[in-house]
Amino acid sequence: MKDQLATIQADALARIAAATDERSLDDARVHVLGKKGTLTLASAGIKDVPKEDKAAVGQLLNAARTAITEAYEKKQAALQDAADRAALAGIDPTLPARALHTGSLHPLTLIRDRAISILRRMGFALADGPEIEDEFHCFDALNTPADHPARNEKDTFYFDSGKLLRTHTSSVQIRTMEKSAPPVRIIAPGSAYRRDEIDATHLSAFNQLEGLYVDTDVSLPDLKGTLEYFFRELFGSETEVRFRPHFFPFTEPSFEIDVKLHAKGQAPRWIEVAGCGMVDPAVFESISATRKDNAFDPARVTGFAFGMGLDRLAMIRWGIKDIRLLIENDARFLKQFC
Ligand code: PHE
Repeated sequence: MKDQLATIQADALARIAAATDERSLDDARVHVLGKKGTLTLASAGIKDVPKEDKAAVGQLLNAARTAITEAYEKKQAALQDAADRAALAGIDPTLPARALHTGSLHPLTLIRDRAISILRRMGFALADGPEIEDEFHCFDALNTPADHPARNEKDTFYFDSGKLLRTHTSSVQIRTMEKSAPPVRIIAPGSAYRRDEIDATHLSAFNQLEGLYVDTDVSLPDLKGTLEYFFRELFGSETEVRFRPHFFPFTEPSFEIDVKLHAKGQAPRWIEVAGCGMVDPAVFESISATRKDNAFDPARVTGFAFGMGLDRLAMIRWGIKDIRLLIENDARFLKQFC
């Protein structure tokens, strides 16, 4: 009887293990535990066992039943798991997913990157300089004398050390020419700071993009052609651009550039987006004194420079009527650039 039970149990466990679905598992169960199952029949045989062995054989029977039932239940759970997984696998993964909330680049970053990419295609390389500047690079080297209003305490943020937050990115012109000889063709995007009254078109911390081109025969038509092409690339061929004669200490002649702003709910208006001009020979003379060489001899080289307000370019690009929207971080505004 003992051997017979061992055989039945081994056979039962093998059948359970071999079952691959609910149905074959149930077949195995019926084969062993059903009315005419192998274990059921063996249990019936206990009545023929001598009285003194009955208890021991009964225990063996119970142990076999428990082992088989456990194996059966375990297998049943495993098959159920597999069935659940198969049901999930039936979900169509080609259905569109629910939209995720994605962030986006800030409009100022977008316009800066776009401006850089246009100008790089035209051969301008990126340059950089410090935001905490000295008066020499911000003013003196740019032919801006001590009594110029831009140097006034009321217009500029000074530190006790005498350094200042640069009032324009034009200081990078000087830092570049100190380091490299002509031809020089650079752009320098970055922050600039002024004690300006904040309003719809002014911030006290704003963003500029400086440009400088120096070579042996750079002319005013080069300046105008370059910038007109740039604005048409940036805003589209319909863009209206005008050059107004102006004064900057470091360029001669000088111009301010206005572009028409079409903001929703407002009449179109010109807004000033850039200053530019031909590099003043006095700037080359100052650089020559610093460099102690003739690389920027004003008799030999000419150049043009420009500085644009990136915040204003963003206003024109997207018809933004108030510059302050660019620094308020209002998600309703920023979401529109996703
Ligand atoms: N630096 C001037 C400004 O901030 C702009 C400018 C740059 C003008 C280069 C001429 C040449 O207003």
